Amino acid sequence: MDGLVDLRTGTVSREVFVSEEVFRQEQERIFGRAWLFIGHEDMVKEPDDYFVSRMGTESVVLTRDRQGKINVLLNSCMHRGMKVCRADQGNARVFTCPYHGWSYSTDGRLVDRPGELVGVPGFSSHYRSELDKKSWGLVHCPRVVNYRGTIWASWDENAPDFEEYIGDFAYYLGAALDHRDGREGGSEMIGGVQKWRVKCNWKFAAENFIGDLYHDISHRSVDLVGIGPSGGKGRRDRQRGRTTVGFPDLGHGGLAELPHRAEPDYVATYRNHPEVEEYYRQVHEARVRNLGDRLRVTTGTGTIFPNMSFHGRQPRTIAVFHPISPTEMEMWRIFLVDRDAPQAVKDVARHYYLRYSGPGGMTESDDMENWVYATEASTGVVARRYPYNYQMGMGHSQPIPELRGGYDGGEYSEQNARIFYGRWAQFMEGRDWNALMAPARAAVAEPAHG
Ligand code: FES
Ligand code: FE
Repeated sequence: MDGLVDLRTGTVSREVFVSEEVFRQEQERIFGRAWLFIGHEDMVKEPDDYFVSRMGTESVVLTRDRQGKINVLLNSCMHRGMKVCRADQGNARVFTCPYHGWSYSTDGRLVDRPGELVGVPGFSSHYRSELDKKSWGLVHCPRVVNYRGTIWASWDENAPDFEEYIGDFAYYLGAALDHRDGREGGSEMIGGVQKWRVKCNWKFAAENFIGDLYHDISHRSVDLVGIGPSGGKGRRDRQRGRTTVGFPDLGHGGLAELPHRAEPDYVATYRNHPEVEEYYRQVHEARVRNLGDRLRVTTGTGTIFPNMSFHGRQPRTIAVFHPISPTEMEMWRIFLVDRDAPQAVKDVARHYYLRYSGPGGMTESDDMENWVYATEASTGVVARRYPYNYQMGMGHSQPIPELRGGYDGGEYSEQNARIFYGRWAQFMEGRDWNALMAPARAAVAEPAHG
């Protein structure tokens, strides 16, 4: 894997996007170890609720047991590997494997551990009661965390705690998940999860959300017709002061307004809906009051390495890019709104989400077209000889004094893509967690720079 990412020249080999071997190693070295987004707690509100998610190419089941605890189980029968849960979501006390009928409990009250093997057809006759059922429960993901209503998991027991993994980028992620900073109500999902497949490498999407403002030209047509929340104006009629904010030690980054402005543009974009505009103005003013000097930025989009992105402005969304093959991903969109927002706010948000994002959304289709054609046009033997260019803004990033390890790249910059592929290369080298976290830990040990 040596030399695929060259930060000195600002280039990334096309093999990173199309090679089967690179893809196989990504599964092991990135998706087998990093913290991955699994879902939202609203997906499993009641005991025995389940939701099927993915960790890399693997299917996992998110469950809530009778103690209210959330578990992540590998969706593969321990007998011959059949998927024990083929529905997307529901409520069940046991998962019964369709192949030979082994059944696994999801209920932590009745067994020692959710996922335990509780039913084996022919246990006494065919197995002569000799099968050790306790040893053949579903595989548990060892690290699971609920972060402001979102569920994250890692297969690696030695992974750092999630909060350390996201570091000071928590500020941005937190604003996207609950822009009232955890003090009130929290967020709820609007509707279900939109899921669809795109014939592109998953990293095109992660890279797009981490700070590619440069691709604005792709959305020129929607900007002209005007699909903003108010319906009558362009999508981003008042953008100014935006910048890329990236964390090279961690691989996360996004677009933000730095410093925050008195009135973020999402307030003004609702001018045709006075009730909604007023609501967001009040929410923002409360945020300014609550955070005071600590409100440094207004979050735009962002990516948590490796494959979760978000919109932190209003309306807020989560996007996930599940790798299926080097040239295919399954994309998810989850839409969030303040749980206690007035119904009018929720209604406007729902309509805007559908118009803007998802497989039928007007901007998402622009992006998907680029990613699909770029992937396809990079698979040929000749095309593969030539790396992609990530040189924009090299050598022009500045530390952000208030954010440990944070760098401001300026509005149009490929700083964050370089940060993403730099982190990608560190994982792909097989560095252990001590080495992966050492620079971030050193930064925490020192006072913030600047
Ligand atoms: Fe599940 Fe045989 S594969 S019971
Ligand atoms: Fe886009």
